[in-house]
Amino acid sequence: MRCGAWIEAASRLDREDDIKDLRREFVLPKAVIYLDGNSLGPLTHRGLKHLERTIAEWRRLGVLGWQSGEVPWFHLAETIGAMLADVVGAEPEEVIATGQTTLNLHQVLATFYRPTPERHVIVADALAFPSDLYAITSHLARHGLDAQESLRLIRSRDGYTLADEDVRAALASDVALAVLPGVLFGSGQALRVAQVTAAAHASGALVAWDLSHAVGAVPLALHQDEVDVAFFCTYKYLCGGPGAIGGLFVHQRHLPVRPGMAGWFGSDKARQFDMGAELAPSQGAGALQVGTPPLLSAAPLIGSLEIYREVGMVKVRERSLRQTAFLAQMAADVLADHGFRVVTPSTPQARGGHVALAHPEAARLSRALKDRGVVPDFRPPDIVRLGPHPLYTTFEEIARALSVLCGIVRDGAHLAYPEGREEIG
Ligand SMILES: Cc1ncc(COP(=O)(O)O)c(C=O)c1O
Repeated sequence: MRCGAWIEAASRLDREDDIKDLRREFVLPKAVIYLDGNSLGPLTHRGLKHLERTIAEWRRLGVLGWQSGEVPWFHLAETIGAMLADVVGAEPEEVIATGQTTLNLHQVLATFYRPTPERHVIVADALAFPSDLYAITSHLARHGLDAQESLRLIRSRDGYTLADEDVRAALASDVALAVLPGVLFGSGQALRVAQVTAAAHASGALVAWDLSHAVGAVPLALHQDEVDVAFFCTYKYLCGGPGAIGGLFVHQRHLPVRPGMAGWFGSDKARQFDMGAELAPSQGAGALQVGTPPLLSAAPLIGSLEIYREVGMVKVRERSLRQTAFLAQMAADVLADHGFRVVTPSTPQARGGHVALAHPEAARLSRALKDRGVVPDFRPPDIVRLGPHPLYTTFEEIARALSVLCGIVRDGAHLAYPEGREEIG
């Protein structure tokens, strides 16, 4: 089928499944097809309202905003934590809005990684987001352990995805903790959280899930699936804003927990202002907070989580799967002859929210797309990532974006760009 026919098919799908009302909730960058919400979600009107309200309260109340105002700041991390709990399938006290992704992983490692001579290995995957590996190796070093012996990286057979059997094989009896991605940031492969967690538990290990690319895209049932701990950012699908506060989940059975890195915001709220010399930790995941939460980087999240609450993760996932299936099918049809390969798994359960197209010229193609009004991103060595968002992307946008990509590669327009890979976003 030609691109034009795909665009017609896409607009038919949009007519059947109108998201105009939802789309109006978002402040989308002007005059572009925004397919990078899996890196940085756009602002929402409701998020902006909550940000402006917080600033107005600061202006009006000063320090009194900690205790008064519409959403008292003192309890904001817990309030947002309870909203996040709905998105990740958890009890309210199991989730706290705090820190950032990497910092929260440091807290997880400081709290839950307790190596012994028999059980000292941390399992991660060779495709992991590098920051996770930096955090892990720094903790091994703090314990005086050698990464050669105590870090087991699950290798990828194809350079993009992980095989179930390789994940399971890594979870041997010497593993203390596995740190694994819910959805791989490159290929968008979704791992089976419940099954992998059960396999780790069967071998006596704990699992910490990096859910940065899963949260807001994939339904999660962290409580029911007996997930030990999870950490994630909120600036991707959840549209919390650049540098938004992160999220941390600790299963009830690990609560109360003594934080490995303690600070006064981890206190039991009723005791925090006793200012005692010893920490009286919160009974919930809040115990893992350290210092004062960044309120202005948290406020917009309230607005986007309200939208998520109204729509629900079932609808989000259903639409996301239809979008990614459409994208992958069209890409296979119109781009395969131009050297592209869809490296995101085709099985729905094994897909996250974005689709990865591998091409040797991915970096230049990504730049050429941006100059033509389509915002994707590039991930080394050869991936163009396209992240439709089920709450605002239309099928027609997906089809038009691929049509632009097709035009670029057909005309060789990307070859006018210098080689090189540096790219933020
Ligand atoms: C999967 C994953 N893990 C960790 C990080 C690091 O996040 P942060 O900069 O919030 O620490 C990112 C950032 O995009 C990510 O995608």
